[in-house]
Amino acid sequence: MTPSGSDPGIAVLISGRGSNLQALIDADRLRQLGGSIALVVSNRPDAPGLTKAQDAGIPIRVVNHTDYAERAAFERALVDVLRAADVSLVCLAGFMRLLGPTFLDAFPNAVLNIHPSLLPAFPGTNGAQQAWTYGVKVAGATVHLVTAELDGGPIVRQAAVPVHDDDTPETLAARILIEEHRIYADAVRDVLSGAWTIDGRRFVRRR
Ligand code: GRF
Repeated sequence: MTPSGSDPGIAVLISGRGSNLQALIDADRLRQLGGSIALVVSNRPDAPGLTKAQDAGIPIRVVNHTDYAERAAFERALVDVLRAADVSLVCLAGFMRLLGPTFLDAFPNAVLNIHPSLLPAFPGTNGAQQAWTYGVKVAGATVHLVTAELDGGPIVRQAAVPVHDDDTPETLAARILIEEHRIYADAVRDVLSGAWTIDGRRFVRRR
């Protein structure tokens, strides 16, 4: 599954199990992304998601953050790998490293992240657990453009799910994850369509 013709290339960055990666691979197979996944990059050599990419025939690279003394050097290495693959869009999918200006300036308005809460509520790690602990009655998932502010960039797509009285953090996270998988592909298609603008901090689709 390599980019064909003028199909925009997508890179997916992971650190772990890769269920969102799998959802994007499945959508790519159905030609639903508006581009093709050209490369999967992990900062962890043992990330289970790497196997999902290999099974789909997608090239993989490991850029191990522990090999770099400084974050900027790690980010430069990531940028080099992604530039070599000529990708237009970077999708963070359970990528557990903060990205700063060295990376973000190389891909302006072209980095997406999926987060398991209705942002701006519950940024940071364990969004579903945070929502459950807080006691909200509606939780959800958000796909947003990545900026230097943690989980703070313009929102591209959101989906809500109910919180049931008998939920545990795990059952709630599982219900949210189903929505994550659905809206991530939709958000990638939105962004790659190019038919949008940023107005203040609002991502606005053009009709
Ligand atoms: C997802 O819950 C995602 O929202 C968060 O990290 C988790 C990654 O899961 N950013 P997976 O690796 O995609 O299964």
